[in-house]
Amino acid sequence: MRSSIWRLTRRLQDRSAFYAPSQAWVCRGCQQRLNSTTTSTNEPITVQEHQYETDEWTNAPAQILSSVSRRLHLQKDHPITITRKIIESRFPGFKTHNSLFPVVTTYQNFDSLGFQPDHPGRSRTDTYYVNKNTVLRTHTSAHQADVFRANESDGYLISADVYRRDAVDRSHYPIFHQMEAALTWDSNSLNGESLAKRVWEDLEALPKNSIEVLDENPTIHPERNPLQQEHKQEDVEAIAAHLKKSLENVVVEIFARAAESSKSTTNNVTEAPLKVRWVEAYFPFTSPSWELEVFWQDEWLEVLGCGVVKQQLLNNAGVPTRSGWAFGIGLERIAMILFNIPDIRLFWSQDPRFLSQFSESAQPLVSRFVPFSKHPACYKDISFWLRSSSAAGGMVKGTTSDFHENDFMELVRDVCGDLVEDVRLTDEFAHPKSGRRSMCYRINYRSLERTLTNEETNGMHERVRQALVEKMGVELR
Ligand code: PHE
Repeated sequence: MRSSIWRLTRRLQDRSAFYAPSQAWVCRGCQQRLNSTTTSTNEPITVQEHQYETDEWTNAPAQILSSVSRRLHLQKDHPITITRKIIESRFPGFKTHNSLFPVVTTYQNFDSLGFQPDHPGRSRTDTYYVNKNTVLRTHTSAHQADVFRANESDGYLISADVYRRDAVDRSHYPIFHQMEAALTWDSNSLNGESLAKRVWEDLEALPKNSIEVLDENPTIHPERNPLQQEHKQEDVEAIAAHLKKSLENVVVEIFARAAESSKSTTNNVTEAPLKVRWVEAYFPFTSPSWELEVFWQDEWLEVLGCGVVKQQLLNNAGVPTRSGWAFGIGLERIAMILFNIPDIRLFWSQDPRFLSQFSESAQPLVSRFVPFSKHPACYKDISFWLRSSSAAGGMVKGTTSDFHENDFMELVRDVCGDLVEDVRLTDEFAHPKSGRRSMCYRINYRSLERTLTNEETNGMHERVRQALVEKMGVELR
């Protein structure tokens, strides 16, 4: 599973964080074989009206590309849309950008944000490439530089579909939705006031709330959360305070509604006061940076990532006199909490039994989702020996292999679509003599909409087994 920039949204949807170093290295042999089934080699790809050349980097499957048009965040009465609108309502005056196209350059997605050339987030095991220089955006931050450059408003919001190769389970789906916000102050429009003073005044005008906030760390820490050399500490103190208050207000809005809807349908919910905490974080495009966690149903949930925008990014975007904050939040995780939706696949359901439960004009707006059925699970195991890398491409023989879990996850999705609820590693060991690695995964076949027949699950499982041999060169046990 991907480890970490996706840190923020990872736990939002329990998705592994995005940017800590991981074992995510490009496994060429594996990828090339996977490509041969996902998109035919060297045929151009058409995404809506745009055409793209393909090359040896291409790994975006047709199934994913064809979902680009769904745009759940714009679908009327969809829970993702309702969640977006609730958050937008907290930022009056911010310009909204809700139709930005998902195919972006690697420059937009990574370089403009200061990602190092060898950053694991760029790996083909984590990211869907259309070609070497073009990806399906992995986060809404991909648009920050462009929107700053357009310089149309002090505050903006971007909501969009984003794409990441990842695990298969109830809180991970290769397409999900994020919302990005930024607010900057232009030093040219302060009329002689200091930036810090203006920001503190603006903060005073924000709605007050009474949630319990744990915030133990200093705003700036020289090693862990440094002040940017272009910034003054007093300005950053003010910007950070404004950012934190704005986000605490978002949390109040969301979690108060969630608590209300769970109270209206369950009697045994004890009403604990809302508690949040600020945790130091790292993103290549903000400093200092934080994550916000909410204490919800007895655990700390990571809800969003944020920070003070890197001045270099603003300078490069042609707005060097601006400075301010940005945050990013994953909408599925919030919607799952708000509406009590147990499985992320449900958001993609076209079943009226799901869709008819939500309405933008309902009173109250948020109610608990009532599961319309629970179809039986069907567990099947698959065990195999990995190829050693020597077989894959002349590397040193031994325990290394070119297997990456995300490739296996994608293969399962490719064969079974949304009929798999989760895929879990249940066993892994190395042969004491040969050093060969063996893996065992348990696949849970379950449809959200109907009961699968034995014949159907057996057939799918067999196709997964065959594809695994053909595309990943493993030896079944
Ligand atoms: N883009 C980051 C992510 O997906 C979140 C983020 C947005 C962090 C804006 C800071 C500022 O993990």
